[in-house]
Amino acid sequence: MTNIKSRSLPKNRVFSGAQPSGNMHLGNYLGAFRNWARLQQDFECIYCVVDLHAITVWQDPADLVRQTREAAAAYIASGVDPKRSILFNQSRVAAHSELAWIFNCVARMGWLNRMTQFKDKAGKHRERASVGLYVYPDLMAADILTYKATHVPVGEDQKQHLELTRDIAQKFNNDYDREVFPIVEPLISKEGARIMSLRDGSKKMSKSDPSDASRINLTDTADSIVQKIRKAKTDPEPLPEDVAGLDGRPEAHNLVGIYGALTDKSMEAVLKEHGGTGFAEFKKTLVDVAVAHLSPITGEMARLMDDPAEIDQILSDGAERAAALAAPVMEEVRETVGLIGRHTY
Ligand code: AMP
Ligand code: TRP
Repeated sequence: MTNIKSRSLPKNRVFSGAQPSGNMHLGNYLGAFRNWARLQQDFECIYCVVDLHAITVWQDPADLVRQTREAAAAYIASGVDPKRSILFNQSRVAAHSELAWIFNCVARMGWLNRMTQFKDKAGKHRERASVGLYVYPDLMAADILTYKATHVPVGEDQKQHLELTRDIAQKFNNDYDREVFPIVEPLISKEGARIMSLRDGSKKMSKSDPSDASRINLTDTADSIVQKIRKAKTDPEPLPEDVAGLDGRPEAHNLVGIYGALTDKSMEAVLKEHGGTGFAEFKKTLVDVAVAHLSPITGEMARLMDDPAEIDQILSDGAERAAALAAPVMEEVRETVGLIGRHTY
């Protein structure tokens, strides 16, 4: 059998998404959304609020509706332009679920058993985890490959899921002897890749941390940002002159990293400027930078959240455009698998 070339493989298509499962925070902004906005210059971009992924663990229905709008508002306020890029929520485009089922039949149990995120999330209660949580990575592969996306910006923690996406694409192409899917490239940026909790420099800033003081939410007022940075955990030493001096000082490392990410400077450059300064003074500078940078974003989020109809309209338009891109790919997939009859006997 000859390997039939795919009908069309886009060259520069980005896909990414985040779960609407709680507060969007500074880590999401610096580690994800800001990069998504920047990628719009060079790529055709599709950004998704992955509500079907969110329900792999229990979500209160009314909260889910609000959080989905809030996630979309956070993308837009961070610079994702819904006219230039496609912005929608996953459940509105049925192709994701359909392709995820087909990928459930391509991926092997052994592959999914190796996924560390499932092990972390399910913990000791594996038997009580939803089946959805187990096959979560197959749905993620479907999100990306429904659009034949070529590049996927994610944080370090998603690398393993993208390797699985590559394995699924490869196995599908091999099994059906047809180059239907591209082998995606992860885009993992270094700056802002790991923003840590303001209360504990060894833990990631996270929407699931019970302490609200541990994170700067994208819905926080300027006052609350000031308070949280003032109260952020530090140590009594002044800032060192170089990055090596931050070893063993996770809280200092984190605040210098946040300052650098917000001002687009390397940690070395920040320490050249502020080395020798005590935290009382450095925090004042950080407060000024953080409030100046984040106020337009939090302001825009608040404006958008005041008008849910506008967000819903943006998501509907996005879903329509996404579905139009997915349709021919799904036709090709159904035909390839033999779910519709174009094969000749
Ligand atoms: P999540 O909030 O886990 O759904 O992640 C959404 C996106 O934000 C992913 O691309 C994550 O890698 C990124 N992200 C989440 N938390 C952080 C953090 N503390 N630092 C940097 N990036 C993060
Ligand atoms: N699993 C990703 C996270 O938790 C979210 C996600 C779902 C995603 N589908 C995706 C990211 C497709 C990139 C591409 O961050």
